[in-house]
Amino acid sequence: MSHAGKKRKLDKTRQDRLYFDSYSDVTIHEDMIADHVRTNTYRTAIFSNSESIKGKVVLDVGAGTGVLSIFCAQAGAKKVYAVEACSIAEQAVEIVKQNNVEEIVEIIRGTVETVELPEKVDVIVSEWMGYALLHESMLNSVLFARDKWLKPGGVILPSRAELFITPISDPVVEDRLYFWYTVKDRYGVDMSSMSDFAQKCIKNSDITVNTVAMEDVLSHPARFAELDLYLVTVEELRAVKGRFTCESFGSAAVNAFCVYFTVTFPCPEKAESLVLSTCPFNPETHWKQAVLYLDSPVEVVQDTPITGEVSMFPSEDGSRHICIHVDYSIGEEKRQSKTFSIPDWTSDPQS
Ligand SMILES: C[S@@+](CC[C@H](N)C(=O)[O-])C[C@H]1O[C@@H](n2cnc3c(N)ncnc32)[C@H](O)[C@@H]1O
Repeated sequence: MSHAGKKRKLDKTRQDRLYFDSYSDVTIHEDMIADHVRTNTYRTAIFSNSESIKGKVVLDVGAGTGVLSIFCAQAGAKKVYAVEACSIAEQAVEIVKQNNVEEIVEIIRGTVETVELPEKVDVIVSEWMGYALLHESMLNSVLFARDKWLKPGGVILPSRAELFITPISDPVVEDRLYFWYTVKDRYGVDMSSMSDFAQKCIKNSDITVNTVAMEDVLSHPARFAELDLYLVTVEELRAVKGRFTCESFGSAAVNAFCVYFTVTFPCPEKAESLVLSTCPFNPETHWKQAVLYLDSPVEVVQDTPITGEVSMFPSEDGSRHICIHVDYSIGEEKRQSKTFSIPDWTSDPQS
């Protein structure tokens, strides 16, 4: 292996260690389990698919505390392999015992890419979604498990993911910029020159994870990508892209785009499938929405067309971070583009 190749590999190992460490703490699991929309939709989906689960073998990819594995046992699974890479697996062992399903749920500590199972599985369940759907790149691991362990004709829960974009007008950010013009009236010191600096800091190229208020959404959201989990490949995840067209509801200043996702579970017993939605019009989830601030606001009136193309790709630095590139036109304004990425929240003492 060349030196450069070795360096990349070491980087990936370190990135993975940081990633799995982030799941070793209680807070992240608390946030996920407490997210009623998330946890209850998975629970409902698993019980609604009990015909596919009863007496069958299930693989839970990234089992965490084991909650989804236990739902599957409660829905009648014969065996559940609960694969979890980080130390939260130790807690999962206790939780499984506490719920008297240790005969059914087997916690396996390791990455799904490296563990060996004694058999192929009928069902894969996984909660793999990150901010803006693809942050964390965990879907790659689910696809690896699908290709290696799912029997032909097996079931994947959820089975489809969709990405949406909509223009928004975020008043808070404009208020923050205007704030610097108000300082003189308050304290007799003119700090209006800070506005440009504030603009650079706030309207940077970070993906901001925030709750978008329903009333700040300026058009019907447009779907720009759909992933069929039975078919999509890791190669295709290297560039998930699509075009969008929106028309503004009324007069406003567009100062950001909001990106969000849904995942869909088949529901054989019901006429409609079950959707876990992170849309601003739906109850809030811990994923909130991904907000992409434009460099400057653009005025729109009713029916102004807002069109463009979104492209999502993993960051080239080897991290599991996602980048979002938006190429857009708003009304008569000239076409613009901006690339956004998730800021690095992690700190690695060895880096
Ligand atoms: C979003 S959490 C979901 C946890 C749990 N399934 C739940 O619903 O509460 C994802 C979990 O998957 C684990 N994970 C991510 N990639 C993995 C992989 N390749 N192999 C095994 N575990 C993985 C993480 O450590 C984390 O605990």
